[in-house]
This record gives sequence, C-alpha cells and structure tokens, in this order.
Amino acid sequence: MSLRAKITGVGHYVPSKVLNNKELEKMVDTSDDWIVSRTGIKERRILEDGKASSFMGALAARVALENAGVSAEELDLIVVATVTPDMFFPSTACLIQHEIGAKNAWGVDVNGACTGFLYATAMGAQFIESGRYQKVLIVGSDKMSSITDYTDRNTCVLFGDAAAAIVLEPTTEEAHVGILDYILKSDGSGQNFLYMKGGGSLHPASHETVDNKMHYIYQDGRTVFKFAVTGMADVTEQIAKKNNIQSDDIKLFIPHQANLRIIDAAAQRVKLPPEKVLINIDKYGNTTAATIPLGLSEAYNEGRIKQGDYIIFAAFGAGFTWGSMLVRWAY
Ligand code: ACO
Repeated sequence: MSLRAKITGVGHYVPSKVLNNKELEKMVDTSDDWIVSRTGIKERRILEDGKASSFMGALAARVALENAGVSAEELDLIVVATVTPDMFFPSTACLIQHEIGAKNAWGVDVNGACTGFLYATAMGAQFIESGRYQKVLIVGSDKMSSITDYTDRNTCVLFGDAAAAIVLEPTTEEAHVGILDYILKSDGSGQNFLYMKGGGSLHPASHETVDNKMHYIYQDGRTVFKFAVTGMADVTEQIAKKNNIQSDDIKLFIPHQANLRIIDAAAQRVKLPPEKVLINIDKYGNTTAATIPLGLSEAYNEGRIKQGDYIIFAAFGAGFTWGSMLVRWAY
C-alpha cells in the first residue's frame, strides 16, 4: 500500500501594523494609483522591530497544529521556507522548534525564495511517502520589511511580512487526497535579476556593503515580470494537463502573490474564472514564502475549500525558482 502526504491542518499569522499606499506616498515618489494599477497591492503588514520570522512562524505553526489536532511533541520534522531567517544560523526551524516545544522533531530551513513553500512541502511530503515520518510541519515565514529599502520605490511598494503553516500526515494513495503531484523548477541564470547580495560569503557585511545598500532586495522588475508570467503559467497548465484536470475540476487556484497581472496571466492560461483564483495581494503584498499557505489558510477559514476539492498552487521567485502543486483537500 503506497503512502501519500495529506494536509491535515493550516494556520497563519499576520502582524497587526498596516502600511498602506497613502503612507508610502509620503516615503517615496509613488502614488496609490500607480501601485494598485501596476501590482494590485493596497496595503501590507509590517512586523515590529525586535521580532523576526521565527516569531511569526511559531504563531502560525501553533494555529496549524491546533487545526490538525496534533501536539508539538508529536512532530517528527519541521521544514521552514524563508529568505529572511532570524539569523544565518542557527536555522529558523530550530528557533521555531524550541518556541513551540517540538522536542521530538528536527528542523531545517529551505531557501527557495517565493517558491520556498512549494519546495519545503515537496520535501516534507517525501518523508511521509517513504513511511519514515508521521507528522511534519511546514512553515513559510518572511519578514520582508527587514530587507526592504524604504527609499527605493521599485521594491518598497511590493513586499510585506507574514507567516503561515501546514501539517502533513500520511494517507494512502487509494484515498486520493493530499499532495497529488508537483512540478518544481529552478534556473540560476536568473540570479542577476532578483537578489540580496550583501551579508553572504561573497560580500560579507562591511561598511562598504552597507553604504552600497547591498543588504536590501534588488529587483529588475521588468525582466522578472516576463519570466514570472511565462514560468508560472507554464507549470500551472502543465500540472493540470499531466493530471487530466480541467478548469471545471479546479475549486481554487492559489498562486504566489507577487503581482496581480502575473496572477491574471496564469489564471487565463488555464481558463479559470476570477472566483476560482485566490487573491489577497491587495491586503498583504508579496510575503515571499508565506503567500501560498496564507492564501490557503484564509480560504479554509472562509469556507472556500471542502473535502475532495482540487486546489492548484503556483509560484515564481528569485533564483529563478518556480513550480506548481496539485492538492486534493483531505478534511
Ligand atoms: N511608483 C511609481 N512609479 C514607479 C514605481 C512606483 N512604486 N516603481 C517603478 N516606477 C516607475 C519606473 O521607474 C518606470 O519609470 P520609467 O519608465 O521612467 O523608467 C515605470 O514606473 C515603469 O516601470 P516598470 O518596471 O516597467 O513597471 P512594471 O509595470 O514592470 O511594474 C513591477 C513594476 C511591479 C515591479 C513589476 O515589474 C513586477 O511585478 N515584476 C515582477 C515581480 C515578481 O514577480 N517578483 C518575483 C517574486 S519576488 C521574490 O522572489 C523575493
């Protein structure tokens, strides 16, 4: 009997502080009109100073565990997707493990940028499918405000802070629910279009790296946009075709929330009407590894997904990285 991983719990945390477009108008040369029409973003959340990704991740994890009816002690493994770990080491997974009291689990961070949650979920699912583990926690958490230059209008309007988490447990292939399939990609030739160069082993932190603003996100928006539209639409179409899923069969498409125009392009490619596309970019902006589980958690809370529903996730991000995942909701 073959095993498969199913999602048995979901939860999220967003900071209470809101930064809206009007406030950004006072910080950089931009306008609410420009931001809404070019990106779809109206506001984003900002985590306070002194708190970091592990803080948000642990809160989201607690909600997901409660939703699953799983205790922290039962966890075997924690995989955290983030590009804004609290620090280089120890991993944010270790910090979350300690914070929630998951004393029987080990944990590891995955850096897949905006595709990080899909990478982390696919990795966690393997441990379930192999029969090695019974309870795996996947967290996507990013404090993007910590690496955003609020004097750079090209990037500061785009990003926000949030975390969300899911719990994975085993089911059988015959039950036909859970993580049914995924397509994951990366292409390192995209490295020069979206990055944070400072602080790593190539450019260790120095006065020079700080003066040159190398600890902030750099993005060539136009180039990333082109690759994102094609990449995300391709893998969305491919996973539907590969699994013989028609647009009528799909209950909800939960795409990475980087730009409403990228989401629309991907949705159009698989002929999905607007009511089948999860959009919350207007409220949160791009929260990197958190966007997909945050959308999933909100959709679940709003009663938009029910047992047996087919859901497609799709993402595109720095690397370049991109991918899609087909899930059939299990509860
Ligand atoms: N307010 C006003 N004007 C602006 C702003 C702003 N906030 N930002 C840029 N502009 C200007 C530009 O300077 C440019 O002016 P110019 O023509 O005089 O040079 C003009 O607006 C148009 O700029 P474009 O870059 O062509 O604008 P575009 O329509 O491409 O939108 C955006 C920019 C929103 C960044 C878009 O390119 C985008 O969404 N890119 C992809 C983002 C993405 O998917 N990232 C991947 C995930 S992120 C991750 O992995 C961490």
